[in-house]
Amino acid sequence: MPTPVDIAPARGKLGVLLVGLGAVSTTTIAGVMAIRKGLSKPIGSLTQMGTVRLGKRTEGRSPKISDVVPLSSLDDLVFGGWDIFEDDCYAAARTAGVIEPSLLDKVRPELEQIRPWPAVFDQRYVKRLDGPNVKKGKNKKDLAEQVTADIRRFKADHQLDRLVMVWCGSTEVFATEGAAHASIEAFERALEANDPAIPSSMVYAYAAIREGIPYANAAPNLTADIPALVALAAQTKAPLAGKDLKTGQTLMKTIIAPGLKARLLGVEGWYSTNILGNRDGEVLDDPESFKTKEESKKSVLDYILQPQLYPDLYEDLCHVVRINYYPPRGDNKEGWDNIDLVGWLGYRMQLKINFLCRDSILAAPIVLDVALFLDLAKRAGMHGIQEWLSFYFKSPVHAPGLYPEHDLFIQLMKLKNTLRYLKGEELITHLGREYYD
Ligand SMILES: NC(=O)c1ccc[n+]([C@@H]2O[C@H](COP(=O)([O-])OP(=O)(O)OC[C@H]3O[C@@H](n4cnc5c(N)ncnc54)[C@H](O)[C@@H]3O)[C@@H](O)[C@H]2O)c1
Repeated sequence: MPTPVDIAPARGKLGVLLVGLGAVSTTTIAGVMAIRKGLSKPIGSLTQMGTVRLGKRTEGRSPKISDVVPLSSLDDLVFGGWDIFEDDCYAAARTAGVIEPSLLDKVRPELEQIRPWPAVFDQRYVKRLDGPNVKKGKNKKDLAEQVTADIRRFKADHQLDRLVMVWCGSTEVFATEGAAHASIEAFERALEANDPAIPSSMVYAYAAIREGIPYANAAPNLTADIPALVALAAQTKAPLAGKDLKTGQTLMKTIIAPGLKARLLGVEGWYSTNILGNRDGEVLDDPESFKTKEESKKSVLDYILQPQLYPDLYEDLCHVVRINYYPPRGDNKEGWDNIDLVGWLGYRMQLKINFLCRDSILAAPIVLDVALFLDLAKRAGMHGIQEWLSFYFKSPVHAPGLYPEHDLFIQLMKLKNTLRYLKGEELITHLGREYYD
């Protein structure tokens, strides 16, 4: 048997720092409160409902994941966060309009206690938003110090044992890696110099990672996936995960595309369009924020279908992704996919997917799982990029020179094998010859 990894127990309280108290964050927090009270079930959450098979199929051992690895219990989570609006978490959840008021009212006192701290915000990075609850500072370094002070105060006030941070803020404008991101020194100089290459999200990420706090990015913007912050995470032993939660249309894409490729069915075209009416949809209506999202959504098929290995099947694939802001729909996104397939002898077929989903209902269990698994990683001494959490993301962060794994089923196998590895259990290869020997 392999040796188990030494994992510190999940003792005491875990502070969950959420940047942006919008639809995703409030649905996560209100959901956790409702589940704690036994009012709802944590559907969609692997940490709460998932199981992992251990040993051979004949052993019949499939315990719950939460019984295999030590995870923080929902009762031990304390939420805090920042937003540019002053609304407390109850008011923000009402504005988001995801969870019905009758359920929200049952957890209202708990939600009202969560009031966002003033945000680090600059409209240059999110053009469609503006709000009053914003920090002022000498420069971005000073703003980072203010975020650190918020974090330390929150930790002391609630007597927290550990913390994790998840960026659930709006999608910032498209940015590429540059000189300011190349090293910790360059990054710190850029903070002092108020360099425009450092968006607000990086200020929070820097503050968290410098404290050794695990950090995840739920949005597609460039944040902790830069050499400077990866190097800082190595120094402070902070685990990292991201980016862009895999919900809705992309979730479906990473379920369907591996199946088509497995059967060597060609794909000539994949046209995806969405209507979405929440604040996220409004922010994504700005072409610069949309470009960030588009890049994240479009890379998925290339990696899964591997046109370089299968030129006859996927070389000329036409992949189009659209998001249209349509206020009447609120958070209840509707996505349409038209897939043009090619089969035996070049005969054409079509597949249509019409997904009437709820964005934040799909996102909330991911935020919870990522927070709990990142805390597990920290206690297990795993730092830097946590590729085993790719399962949750549209654009999985990965080591340089390595292509990201997008196939949902490979991602799940990687996640569960990581749990087996942590516990010193045999990894499952699915070879299975022993059953026939
Ligand atoms: N819901 C999903 O299925 C899903 C999937 C993938 C990614 N995402 C991403 O998650 C993020 C959150 O989505 P949402 O639906 O909750 O959006 P939202 O607009 O409801 O919430 C975002 C919140 O972030 C706040 N904000 C923006 N910039 C900030 C800053 N610098 N500091 C603090 N707060 C800031 C906004 O005021 C807003 O309240 C978006 O970037 C979205 O693209 C969502």
